[in-house]
Amino acid sequence: MKDFKDKVAVVSGAASGIGLALARRFAQDGMHLVLADIEAAPLAQARAEIQALGVQVLAVQTDVSSEAQVWALADAAFQRFGNVHVLCNNAGVALPGLMAPGWQSSVADWRWVLDVNLMGVLYGVQAFVPRMLAGGEQGHVVNTASVAGLLTASNPYHVSKHAVACMTEGLYKDFKRLGARLSASVLCPGLINTAIMHAERNRPPEQGPATDLSQLPEPVQRAVSQFSQALLAGYDPADVAQAVADAIRADQFYVVPAQQPLQAQIDLRMNDILQRRNPTLPKPMFSDGQAKAD
Ligand code: NAI
Repeated sequence: MKDFKDKVAVVSGAASGIGLALARRFAQDGMHLVLADIEAAPLAQARAEIQALGVQVLAVQTDVSSEAQVWALADAAFQRFGNVHVLCNNAGVALPGLMAPGWQSSVADWRWVLDVNLMGVLYGVQAFVPRMLAGGEQGHVVNTASVAGLLTASNPYHVSKHAVACMTEGLYKDFKRLGARLSASVLCPGLINTAIMHAERNRPPEQGPATDLSQLPEPVQRAVSQFSQALLAGYDPADVAQAVADAIRADQFYVVPAQQPLQAQIDLRMNDILQRRNPTLPKPMFSDGQAKAD
């Protein structure tokens, strides 16, 4: 899909970080926008900012972990614009103790992360894709995974992102097999300067209590602090959005705006698999409190 002018893009998690940058990029390229986010006030701000770029904007407060809310979002989008051309299932959350082994996260933690990061993407695919196919126009689905979807760890974030990468690669093949005018890309960012480490601001109370950082083992607390610093020094979300727009135009499946040490970790894991060798422990990215992001 090369021509963005007057086409329609839906972006979830559009009120902050990568989602907001995607909305800006698409609007600058002349697309009309459907913005979805769980946070009302930042969503209203995003709507005003994107509208000021001269395109039409529909903002729908949506919790992507609710199937009913995602279907309501899709109904509103198709009712307002008639079709959707670019669907970015981007909303996602991370636990602050992201790197802790899976057994240290509660079942409530696992459920919350999987409900948003995996089920949210699935609901988006189910609510939008059949109507995008029926519309018969060119279009593109971009699901936000992470380099965590290409690397491995036992925590819920990595597991959720692997599922998203797998689903999206499957979608790509489904579209090609069907001869559809839709395509798909998986977005696997590295360290990006966003508010993701404060994701528990959006954790509904019924999804369990927010993490008490002071209760995490000391090495995990140190890793969290180093990781947060590394994100601050990470890439600008605008660069990620540009990479996504380029990938849609070029029909490029893997979009991996990631720092060199992370690229090296992906290569290491892929070579382990190719050579049928046991998983190699990557070099630590952080040492002596210094974040080494690039
Ligand atoms: P962010 O926290 O700045 O933005 C995420 C947005 O999603 C926020 O506006 C938030 O309100 C919204 N959101 C959270 N839960 C939601 C829900 N249940 N329903 C609807 N909206 C919800 O974080 P960022 O980094 O922009 O995150 C976007 C995506 O990028 C996520 O899927 C994240 O996992 C992924 N990602 C981020 C990386 C980074 O370094 N920041 C690296 C790799 C992937």
